[in-house]
Amino acid sequence: MPSDRYARRAMSSDKAWGGRFDADLDATAARFSASVDTDKRLALEDIAGSLAHARMLASRAVISAADLADIERGLAEIRAEIEAGTFEWDAAREDVHMNIEAALTAKVGDAGARLHTGRSRNDQVATDLRLFARESCLRTARRIDALESVLVERAREHVDTLLPGYTHLQRAQPIRLAHHLHAWVEMLDRDAARLRDAARRMNESPLGSGALAGTTFPLDREMTARELGFDRPAANSLDATADRDFLVESAAALATCAIHLSRFGEELVLWSSQEFGFVEMSDAFATGSSMMPQKKNPDIAELIRGKSARVVGDLVTLLVLQKGLPLAYNRDLQEDKPPLFDAFDTVESSLAVMTGMMATVRFRADRMAAALREGFVTATEVADWLVTRGVPFREAHAVAGRLVRIALERGSDLVSLPLDVFRREHASFDDSIYVALDPAVAVERRDLLGAPARARVLAALDAAEARLDARRPGIGAADGQGRA
Ligand code: ARG
Repeated sequence: MPSDRYARRAMSSDKAWGGRFDADLDATAARFSASVDTDKRLALEDIAGSLAHARMLASRAVISAADLADIERGLAEIRAEIEAGTFEWDAAREDVHMNIEAALTAKVGDAGARLHTGRSRNDQVATDLRLFARESCLRTARRIDALESVLVERAREHVDTLLPGYTHLQRAQPIRLAHHLHAWVEMLDRDAARLRDAARRMNESPLGSGALAGTTFPLDREMTARELGFDRPAANSLDATADRDFLVESAAALATCAIHLSRFGEELVLWSSQEFGFVEMSDAFATGSSMMPQKKNPDIAELIRGKSARVVGDLVTLLVLQKGLPLAYNRDLQEDKPPLFDAFDTVESSLAVMTGMMATVRFRADRMAAALREGFVTATEVADWLVTRGVPFREAHAVAGRLVRIALERGSDLVSLPLDVFRREHASFDDSIYVALDPAVAVERRDLLGAPARARVLAALDAAEARLDARRPGIGAADGQGRA
């Protein structure tokens, strides 16, 4: 039965630390140190950790079966209240852990007050964070998979759409749009792999580490680890409570992904400009101007680019937060949560809008073809043509360069230069040079693994799709740890 004693203590923050303290925490200091507004997001992880701990305590006869039943019932009620949004969070109770424990104790009395036996908030929060980060890494990786799938699909539609590939933002050589889109797929795939890898490495249980040095109670660390889906208990109690490198790893993977999305966003901004005109955003992913009626602005792509800055900031915050912290737990670590949550939220929302945008964007094959006709994107073909006739590449390169200059002077392109102009620069030229100058021929001759010839691109898309299929739940190997 909840006694008055517990009800009173649960309702107020005074002397929350028991006998050692005479006075309340200063009100400004209390506000300064309260974290519940942020860390209440870990509530379900916190309850899962508490249930695992309580069941283990009962199995080791540290608490009674009756206490366990009370704790299970109380936590189930609290979880239902949190899910329904009716749970009353109290900043005076500092953090998510104290809020839930106080509410439990108010509900079930002594049993609630026994829950924290052999546990500290230090191993508790480290456990909550690992559970949260693990699931978030896997969920974000699945969002990346979804974007990759859309890109593979759009690439298949555009296997025969050619455009100039760029270096230094100068037209360079012709490629297939499918090849270009597949490049983003590969980048994103590494991002997903980094997140899954981070999830795998962080999958160790801190429970049983106590505040820093374990506990005198005969805890079964294997049991709690198993119950929470961890691969094993962490090997060192100081490390398990003080380590946040798993958050740095997650944020680094997220920042890398955010930077990829930013580059992609920037490219879409460029491509949707009138100067390029390679894409038109669907109305659902563009905005108008409040002043200029003709405008269709790629705001969503711009914001994907812009929001990457936050994620880089989150990574830097997590790194600097840990600089200079001695072992073991230090309260500084409470500041890990805002950047952690922000990094996941920002990348997940960026992925969601990028996926919608790429599913609906219209590719302008006509504009891409027009761009191919300018910019001498087949100048390399001239040099390569000469090389196949035995001319050393450096010399062939110089000949091709002179031909480009002649074409520029005439305001013409290479394919419009008469054969005698070619022959004046090198005697071995014949009519077949005009075939080589066709962008479609130039692309097709790039018939190497990873290059843009049609069959190579289709093979690359098949491989990417097979990789994605193997990760889809229910088909083949699961995402790293077999967790949905
Ligand atoms: N709110 C704290 C955090 O997030 C929980 C651990 C507090 N531990 C302590 N010894 N004060 O880090």
